[in-house]
Amino acid sequence: MKKETIGDSLSRVDGRLKVTGGAKYSGEYDLPGLTYGVLVPATIASGTVTAIDSKAALRAPGVLAVITPFNATKVPGYQPEASTRIKGLKLFNDNQVYFNGQPIALVVADTFERATNAASLVKATYQAQPFETNFNKNIDKGVSPQNNKDYLRGEAYAYKNAPIKVEQEYTLPSEMHNPMELHVTTAFWTGDDKITLYTKSQGVISSQRAIANAFQLDPKNVQINSRFVGGAFGSSLRTWPHEVAAVQAAKMLNRPVKLTLTREQMFTLVGYRPHTVQKVGIGATADGKIVGISHESHSQTAVYEEFTERSVNVSRFLYSSPNVNTQYKVVPLNVGVPAPMRGPGEATGSFALESALDELSYSLNMDPIELRLKNYAETDPEKNLPWSSKYLKECYQKGADSIGWSNRKAKPGTNNDGEWLVGYGIGCGAFGAYRSRSLAKIKLMPNGTVNIQSATSDIGPGTATSMVLIAADILKIPAEKIVFELGDSSFPVAPTQGGSATVSSVGSAVHDACVALKQKLNTLAGKPENSTDDIDYAKVLSQNNLPFLEITQESIANEEAKKYSMYSFSAHFAKVYVHPLTGVVKIKNVVAVVDAGKIVSYKTARSQMIGGAVGGIGMAMTEEAVFDDRFGRYVNGNFADYHVPVNADIPQIEAIFINKPDPIINPIGTKGIGEISLIGVAAAVANAVYNATGKRIRELPITPDKLI
Ligand code: MOS
Repeated sequence: MKKETIGDSLSRVDGRLKVTGGAKYSGEYDLPGLTYGVLVPATIASGTVTAIDSKAALRAPGVLAVITPFNATKVPGYQPEASTRIKGLKLFNDNQVYFNGQPIALVVADTFERATNAASLVKATYQAQPFETNFNKNIDKGVSPQNNKDYLRGEAYAYKNAPIKVEQEYTLPSEMHNPMELHVTTAFWTGDDKITLYTKSQGVISSQRAIANAFQLDPKNVQINSRFVGGAFGSSLRTWPHEVAAVQAAKMLNRPVKLTLTREQMFTLVGYRPHTVQKVGIGATADGKIVGISHESHSQTAVYEEFTERSVNVSRFLYSSPNVNTQYKVVPLNVGVPAPMRGPGEATGSFALESALDELSYSLNMDPIELRLKNYAETDPEKNLPWSSKYLKECYQKGADSIGWSNRKAKPGTNNDGEWLVGYGIGCGAFGAYRSRSLAKIKLMPNGTVNIQSATSDIGPGTATSMVLIAADILKIPAEKIVFELGDSSFPVAPTQGGSATVSSVGSAVHDACVALKQKLNTLAGKPENSTDDIDYAKVLSQNNLPFLEITQESIANEEAKKYSMYSFSAHFAKVYVHPLTGVVKIKNVVAVVDAGKIVSYKTARSQMIGGAVGGIGMAMTEEAVFDDRFGRYVNGNFADYHVPVNADIPQIEAIFINKPDPIINPIGTKGIGEISLIGVAAAVANAVYNATGKRIRELPITPDKLI
């Protein structure tokens, strides 16, 4: 029988469930007496709700309640003394309005359609106040957040005195996560102080804590289920106010409540990659040695909550420069709060840094890869530590070979194929390789099958598949005999799926649990603990009269890790065709080369690299949430007007893994691919467009109008 190992190409273990509809998502649980909640958005961007007329809504068929700031029971965790424990907006707790689209009422009815109808009948009266949503007008009001201080190494603005320099500004519009699955929460109380939720979550333990905090419950009495998640990209890293509202409504009605956001509400209530303007200055000697980098960023945030990310941080360590200064500021506006979105910050920052570096290469008349090699950071210049592993040079080489870099013309606009202009670009990135405490429980059954449980989530990368491969590799049994279960807060504690760290954290727990199980079985079989002999597990159980064997194992980062700087690295390459008359860009080829340590599950890792590249192409070419500052509303809050790339926009994407284990981070040697798969893509595309046309697009997305 085939025995899979780490690095194999196993098909998704839950693939059949997903394609046959057998996988149940949070909105698909039907419960006795289930009711449906629909939120009513504010139509002003700042002020107070002075009255809500619910009469018509309450008269509409099937309506059970209209919950407003004027009749809502208090969420106990929303009391002022506890307020520091609850992040962000407190729905229906008071009558303040901070942004257009903020929910001011929740209509609950016996069907979704009736709730939707009744929501349209709710009439609110407001006391409107002046509001600010225009980013450029308010950029001077930027403030430095506590958790993202100015950084200085050497001399500030040293680039200005360099013989060759680039000084430019790069702009990203707000971008929405827009996972296919809408955010849904189904909540029902199973006792006075016990609640169960089916909710779209990247972290069932963090959801459990958030709901327990909000309702001041023992976390053990909060059961969170999120077995399948239809994409999230960071939009489900936290528990949102509407999830608390669903629990509150279920309490008020004493019925199960299912609250589903509309696609338009997904633009305001579950975060986004914030509109960001970045100034980058890079100076170099005439032979291409960087002498100074300056990176200053302004991002929008909400007036009611500060969101920060690491957009400037990449400039501190990706290249070796004696002088670096960075500054990060947020601009509070009357908008919904942003959230991390795949490759958060780093993707934003990489677009600016890697575009500026490309500009510098043309000023120097030097190949962009040669420029990168010339300024290669052999150790981490920010932390002054050795890298745990870094194979970025290999990434440059493999990517250049695969894209056909030798066909690139140094002079822009000189490479033609028929009437199309041809260009090549490179964009690089780094993302921290993290590992946090995780537990896993492993249970060997008398028939030789193995069940593993851990309270992590899977938002799409194929977590269960990776975990099964790790277990199969150590236990030397076929993958089909192993089941990995996740998405349930009653399982052993595991971190939120985020920051590309699931395989590193949960995978280590699975690894350690399997090693512990194997040792125990060896001992029971009378062999040395670490024997590698094949043993018949079922036989060992029966010989020892054991109905099953169960081990819960905790896994934490080792001390050694503190002595190293740990990152995944990437080089993305793009080949584009640009039509000089119409400005149409056809991306012909994308090559994604990543040093992410050991690759555990080749097939799902490759899929993830492709998905990240598609996200990056969206960032580069199509995605832009368009705001109307007259009203403080998005004008394209739907899939017809907000353009995510479709199949026709996506070229052949090749994923190449260096696939060398990191010796430090964890027992498997993985560094993470979720974020790095997206980070360098937008710059690679923008740089390729410049190489094709000689037109430098510094404001994404690269739409045809900007090229003609
Ligand atoms: Mo990721 S932005 O940490 O979901």
